[in-house]
Amino acid sequence: MTEPVSTFSALSEKIASKSAMVGVIGLGYVGLPLAMAVAHGGFRVIGFDIDPEKIVRIEAGSSYIEAVASDTLSGHVASGAFAATTDFERLGDCDVIVICVPTPLTKHRAPDLSYIVKTTEAIAATLRRGQMIVLESTTYPGTTDEVVRPILEKTGLKSATDIFLGFSPEREDPGNRNFRTASIPKIVAGDGAEASSLMQAFYGAVVEKVVPVSSTAAAEAVKITENVFRAVNIALVNELKVVYDAMGIDIWEVVDAAKTKPFGYMAFIPARVSAAIASRSIRST
Ligand SMILES: NC(=O)c1ccc[n+]([C@@H]2O[C@H](COP(=O)([O-])OP(=O)(O)OC[C@H]3O[C@@H](n4cnc5c(N)ncnc54)[C@H](O)[C@@H]3O)[C@@H](O)[C@H]2O)c1
Repeated sequence: MTEPVSTFSALSEKIASKSAMVGVIGLGYVGLPLAMAVAHGGFRVIGFDIDPEKIVRIEAGSSYIEAVASDTLSGHVASGAFAATTDFERLGDCDVIVICVPTPLTKHRAPDLSYIVKTTEAIAATLRRGQMIVLESTTYPGTTDEVVRPILEKTGLKSATDIFLGFSPEREDPGNRNFRTASIPKIVAGDGAEASSLMQAFYGAVVEKVVPVSSTAAAEAVKITENVFRAVNIALVNELKVVYDAMGIDIWEVVDAAKTKPFGYMAFIPARVSAAIASRSIRST
């Protein structure tokens, strides 16, 4: 008698053979470039958005995101590798579902998770055994485990047994032409060993370098660490500009000279830069 195929083996095989259908929810600055990278990696992709105008633009092959060329978009649409819809029932057709919806701050500067919650509820409505759900939205450490998992498990399906859960932070840098989604190393983590292995296999087929970490909370913390680092350093250089202006010292000259130090320093430039300065090799936001 042959052994029944486990949910893990079945999804592994679909990812390895690129027959897995991938859903990307939220087709903005993060989701649309990701959908293109996944299609480029050889998977068929369905993009989901609540904004019908975006679907019309995609169907017409007309990109609304600078990082995605209309030729690339129309090519994937014409080949059938990429389609977009507002019909969330079709989430049930997807083997891997990646959530790229907004996570703005509330007026009290707390994270507004309502988009993640609504999206996860939509996924739960058609959830089936063998699906992998990945959160990419920026959020606080613990969200995948404490917010996403309970909503999905209300269906009776259990993470790490029936379904697989993961987190992979987005590192998109809109306007930066030196990097594309596929060339930026991708942090990945899964809920359990099998989800972790599936995350590495899926993203390994899409981006050049995958960096696994031990838990979804650690992956969420990586993103927060990167954002805090950036925010603190932008604030610092803005403060230094005020001080140096008062002292008659040119902040640009100082930053340009400081960045020649080959270790322990990363250049950030003050706000309100001109286009000419922004296009220099100094790292901004
Ligand atoms: N833009 C960046 O540079 C950047 C970089 C790293 C991480 N992030 C994070 O990535 C996430 C997405 O950001 P973004 O910049 O792509 O946002 P965005 O506003 O450009 O795009 C979000 C998309 O999600 C859609 N949407 C909203 N609610 C939805 C729902 N319930 N179901 C389906 N679609 C829905 C919107 O219509 C929009 O098209 C956020 O958590 C953000 O913090 C953004």
